[in-house]
Amino acid sequence: MTTSEDSLPLSPLVDPFQRSISYLRVSVTDRCNLRCVYCMPEQGIPFVPRQEILSLEEVARVVRVAAGMGLRRVRLTGGEPLVRNGIAKLVRWIAETPGIEDISLTTNAMVLASYAHELAAAGLKRVNVSLDTLRPERFRQITRYGDLAAVREGIAAARDAGLAPIKLNVVVMREVNDDEVADIARTTLTEDWEVRFIELMPFMDEQETCIKDTSLVLGFVPTQDVRRQIEEALGPLEAAQTTTGGGPASYYRLPGARGLIGFISPLTESQFCATCNRMRLTAEGKIRPCLLTDHEVDLRQTLRSGGSDDDLRARILLALNTKPDAHHLWDGNRPRQRKMIQIGG
Ligand code: GTP
Ligand code: 5AD
Ligand code: SF4
Repeated sequence: MTTSEDSLPLSPLVDPFQRSISYLRVSVTDRCNLRCVYCMPEQGIPFVPRQEILSLEEVARVVRVAAGMGLRRVRLTGGEPLVRNGIAKLVRWIAETPGIEDISLTTNAMVLASYAHELAAAGLKRVNVSLDTLRPERFRQITRYGDLAAVREGIAAARDAGLAPIKLNVVVMREVNDDEVADIARTTLTEDWEVRFIELMPFMDEQETCIKDTSLVLGFVPTQDVRRQIEEALGPLEAAQTTTGGGPASYYRLPGARGLIGFISPLTESQFCATCNRMRLTAEGKIRPCLLTDHEVDLRQTLRSGGSDDDLRARILLALNTKPDAHHLWDGNRPRQRKMIQIGG
């Protein structure tokens, strides 16, 4: 049996829980030009020294080897991926890799206006943009340094460059932006973008204490509250499908709307992890099989000590075979070794 690419074998990337893993999120840097409150502490965190960060060639090699094993989608993340020099070159290499069908990037869009056309020309298909509020003052508070006008320019440039669909990521936080949910959802009536409301995941210390009862987690708002607010203000949502994407969002549409509304519910959707199809590559070359679990498998040593492609395949399979069935936050598991900025979501 073969895949759509006739020369490529059917994916052997099936984990011990029979999930097909075809999506790699590649963090290209642990640096960022913002300091979002849910992503990193204000004082920042020590950056990984440059020599410990994978080169673009090393990243491209990992992707090529993984594509030969069944990888089909790549998402570039950070930190902020657009602060990494040579990102368009990496996009081109990945886009040219046999087997890769979808290459996308998650960005805060602060400098996207300067890169959108170059990235599209290099083969990038689409972007997901972090945007938690439509209010400039609030945007600055949440991001600590952000400029909403620059982000809007970035989104406009992405559209102009043909990057589509544009997806917006809204992390919903109690008493921070939860009063804006309906306003943000309303934009889908006239804009063709896909707004996804995301449940806050526990990466910051002040969220650690009361996670067991979701209604008590600091700042946490469950998807069902977000959905209720939207439906009370704007009417019932209809189930819908995204045109592109392999991530965990469930999609809906307001009747007659141009865009879509999605929900990403890692804490309240019971089947969330059962449909997981992805692993991560950190900027310093570790495969992290689960976003919320600290177990990792190093590839850098293999890459830098003359390891063969077979050696890399063995390491990737080791990561695959040690991927947990679920995040187990309810059993007390927490991501403690890294903040979100050091993984990229
Ligand atoms: P597409 O569906 O391919 O467009 O990508 P995506 O929505 O998965 O990517 P994006 O980087 O925009 O992530 C949106 C949100 O989903 C972020 O908050 C991510 O942390 C979260 N997310 C993505 N994948 C996972 C996952 O495997 N587990 C968990 N817990 N969260 C995830
Ligand atoms: N919980 C949920 N989503 C988060 N993101 C960043 N930190 C968190 C968190 N603690 C999202 C941002 C970004 C994406 C990569 O991850 O919206 O767009
Ligand atoms: Fe997959 Fe872990 Fe995310 Fe669950 S929390 S969907 S297992 S990466």
